[in-house]
Amino acid sequence: MKVQHNNPASLLAAPLLCFFCLLMAQPLSGKENRIQEELRDPSPTLNPLRKALGDRAYERAMNSGDYYYVSNKKCRLCHREFFVGRMKDPHVYTYERLLATGYEKNSRCLGCHTTGYNVETGFTDFSTTPELVGVQCEGCHGPGSVHVKRQAKEKGFGIPGISMMKRSEKRGNKKEIKGGFLAGTDNPRILKRMCLTCHTKRWGRSFARTVHGFQAAYDSYKTPLPGDVIDE
Ligand code: HEC
Ligand code: HEC
Ligand code: HEC
Ligand code: HEC
Repeated sequence: MKVQHNNPASLLAAPLLCFFCLLMAQPLSGKENRIQEELRDPSPTLNPLRKALGDRAYERAMNSGDYYYVSNKKCRLCHREFFVGRMKDPHVYTYERLLATGYEKNSRCLGCHTTGYNVETGFTDFSTTPELVGVQCEGCHGPGSVHVKRQAKEKGFGIPGISMMKRSEKRGNKKEIKGGFLAGTDNPRILKRMCLTCHTKRWGRSFARTVHGFQAAYDSYKTPLPGDVIDE
């Protein structure tokens, strides 16, 4: 907004601006508090996957080199209904939320508002890894490389950018993780912990407050259109 100083209207502009400031300050204050609290928090920045899995399981999986983020462009190839359905899901727009606050480069915020932040192959910053903004499929299910390789092999086709499966991957984790995810449907305990590492007390505004609310929100993600099922 331009305020023109030799204009009589500017006499009005100052009190008017103040009035708007007051109007804005009211609803913003709660939001601002959480952000300020987060910025002051001395604990290390969050890696939801590590926290959900626990250090040992996380390191075992990551050191194998089998698990890396592939972005939801790959998921779209076979799960079109989920991909399209999820365009309405708030998780898709978590990065835009950060942009609106101006904290989109702050490491304290990125762990919960992007996919795989703090993991080697995950989101680093917008210019390097734009394909991993927002909390995507892999933000909840964990890195998709093993799953995509398995499913592509099953279907008998290759996927650009995904190398063929290594022999160790074929033998390795088969028993432990059927679908190839660290937080897939065969591991609901870990998947639930994924939700709760991001939806903490500070950031768990609505559904996560009650056990029932949480279970209902969790279950709604079994379908491609979670937003349709959640009632608050
Ligand atoms: C531990 C995970 C976590 C961290 C860290 C985190 N957020 Fe969030 N944020 C969430 C979750 C979960 C929600 C949605 C639930 C809610 O609003 O309580 C959310 C919602 C928001 C919203 C939209 C809701 C609102 O209040 O307007 C904004 C804006 C936001 N976060 C900004 C930030 C900023 C800025 C930071 C860094 C200072 C940050 N977040 C750090 C998890 C996190
Ligand atoms: C907010 C976290 C979250 C995100 C983001 C997410 N999912 Fe899920 N997904 C879940 C949960 C929770 C389940 C149910 C797990 C269970 O059955 O215990 C699930 C289940 C599934 C299932 C199995 C459905 C069935 O038949 O039971 C598929 C397939 C799936 N997700 C694919 C995707 C794809 C593809 C994306 C990205 C477009 C995605 N998910 C994003 C949480 C998520
Ligand atoms: C080559 C095709 C293909 C690709 C690419 C693919 N999937 Fe799948 N996915 C399948 C098939 C087939 C199934 C098993 C049948 C079903 O449940 O639909 C499956 C099942 C799943 C399940 C439920 C079983 C489990 O292990 O939890 C989830 C969740 C899932 N996919 C998520 C994803 C995500 C996230 C991506 C992207 C990283 C992805 N898929 C990419 C074909 C694929
Ligand atoms: C990587 C962090 C992360 C994970 C994992 C995650 N969420 Fe979220 N979730 C967020 C953020 C950030 C928002 C805020 C989106 C916004 O308001 O723009 C959000 C928003 C939501 C909302 C809508 C806002 C609200 O508070 O009601 C629901 C419902 C939700 N998440 C459920 C889940 C469930 C269920 C899971 C696990 C299956 C899950 N989330 C996993 C970060 C996460």
